[in-house]
Amino acid sequence: MERITVQTRPIEGQKPGTSGLRKKTNVFMEPHFLENFVQAIFTGIGGVVGKTLVLGGDGRYFNDHAAQVILRMAAAQGCAKVIIGQNALLSTPAASHMIRIRQTDGGIIMSASHNPGGPKEDFGVKFNTPNGGPAPEDVTDRIFAATKEITSYDIIETTDVDLDRIGDTSLGDMSVEVVDPVADYAALMEELFDFDAIAKLIAGGFRIRFDAMHAITGPYATAILQDRLGAPAGSVVNAVPLPDFGGGHPDPNPIWAKDLMDAMFADDAPDFGAASDGDGDRNMIVGRGAYVTPSDSLAVLAANAHLAPGYAKGLAGVARSMPTSGAVDRVAAARGLDCYETPTGWKFFGNLLDAGRATLCGEESAGTGSDHVREKDGLWAVLLWLNILAVNGKSVQQMLDDHWAEFGRNYYSRHDYEGVDATAAEGLMQAMRDQFATLPGQSFAGKTVASADEFSYDDPVDGSHSANQGIRIGFDGGGRVVFRLSGTGTVGATLRVYLEDVCEDPTAMNRDPQDALADIIAAAEAIAGIRDRTGREAPDVRT
Ligand code: G1P
Ligand code: ZN
Repeated sequence: MERITVQTRPIEGQKPGTSGLRKKTNVFMEPHFLENFVQAIFTGIGGVVGKTLVLGGDGRYFNDHAAQVILRMAAAQGCAKVIIGQNALLSTPAASHMIRIRQTDGGIIMSASHNPGGPKEDFGVKFNTPNGGPAPEDVTDRIFAATKEITSYDIIETTDVDLDRIGDTSLGDMSVEVVDPVADYAALMEELFDFDAIAKLIAGGFRIRFDAMHAITGPYATAILQDRLGAPAGSVVNAVPLPDFGGGHPDPNPIWAKDLMDAMFADDAPDFGAASDGDGDRNMIVGRGAYVTPSDSLAVLAANAHLAPGYAKGLAGVARSMPTSGAVDRVAAARGLDCYETPTGWKFFGNLLDAGRATLCGEESAGTGSDHVREKDGLWAVLLWLNILAVNGKSVQQMLDDHWAEFGRNYYSRHDYEGVDATAAEGLMQAMRDQFATLPGQSFAGKTVASADEFSYDDPVDGSHSANQGIRIGFDGGGRVVFRLSGTGTVGATLRVYLEDVCEDPTAMNRDPQDALADIIAAAEAIAGIRDRTGREAPDVRT
């Protein structure tokens, strides 16, 4: 075993995005690419001497090799201990939990979340801080700065650590603890939720279908839903994680989880369907014949979380990302809860959760979570839904109908244009910025603009300022459209158009969102000129 210093040079394009660094896997596999970024993380957090880190990933292609590299670099640089999931697997929420319960100095998660995996697809690496949450911008800025100054990294040359066997081992002077990736997480879920009530619901014939999309939640969902809660074998489908996610796109939305949608809209549909993404932090909830948008899910959970033991004492407050619909705001207003609006990305919820200002948080992009960890959590959302349904005995559709009747409905949809020419996308955004002063008062497709600006955020806990977080156009009557460029894509630009309109007419609560939003969609096109500027006739994905 030899410790060596490898000379390297800064590599372009290592700026962490919305959630760590994501690139094509073959870029990560280029000489020094992974090592440079890992070294930059170590430098950015002040070195790893004497520290304990958590390490795990979603099992995608290159996960196992990257884990060995990270272990060898940590060992070479004086790290005291790495706690790693068996076979280098940990879902993102389980990694967050492990960082917290073991009071470590943070952790490295290997994942590109919902992006496809494989040699031609995506890989990613991110650092989470000791609170278990994604590194905030000051840390990612230091990491990025380090990527631009790197000249060398230290690494041990040796054979691979056996990550197959649970237990303690070592690498040089560093101890390595290989842990069951599921056990601690499952125990946490059992603390938060009434497993007996859910088991009773299931034993009574309530049928569930959980689609793990060949990704990391397979083992977690099997252990919890089938082994502990008694759902029949086969309730969890696509349960074995595969390095390429079976060639699929592990993003739980009606497009990519079409199998689940088909099953839930069939004549013999189960009562409850759900899916999670590549790394287990996203969720999709579907009832029999009833798709729940993530924004509505957040609102329903906020209104009913007290039915689960972990939240019985009520919520301190709620938070949503800016493009997420205002459905949860209505619940907060009705219940007298504080409601925070943050930029896109889970890292912005961390301070609110740490300060005890918010208990539940959510994003329109299928992310929901609470103060139990510092990441969004797919299976947690599924279990909270199941706990609520077990207590009130309603169907998913009934939950939605009752919710809209009580609070009103925010019709909502997101249209994504993927792989757009980056210059064209920037041009589209800039052209709108140039019209901020003149848009208010003008009408488009029958909608009169009430406001036009770009969202920026001042963190109420640490005062940090984040600018350029999405363009907002508000309309008279409460509708709005938000335009953002994705910070997680790996090819060209992805334009996200978030469309929303409010409805308080009790006779109009069950429309198709695309119809209900037709005027807002037309106004968005008229204002932004998406077709002309991108050459796209229609969005690639509508959620
Ligand atoms: C997307 C979602 C965002 C989420 C992030 C990580 O980021 O929109 O809400 O936090 O993935 O899962 P984007 O590609 O829009 O920057
Ligand atoms: Zn994810």
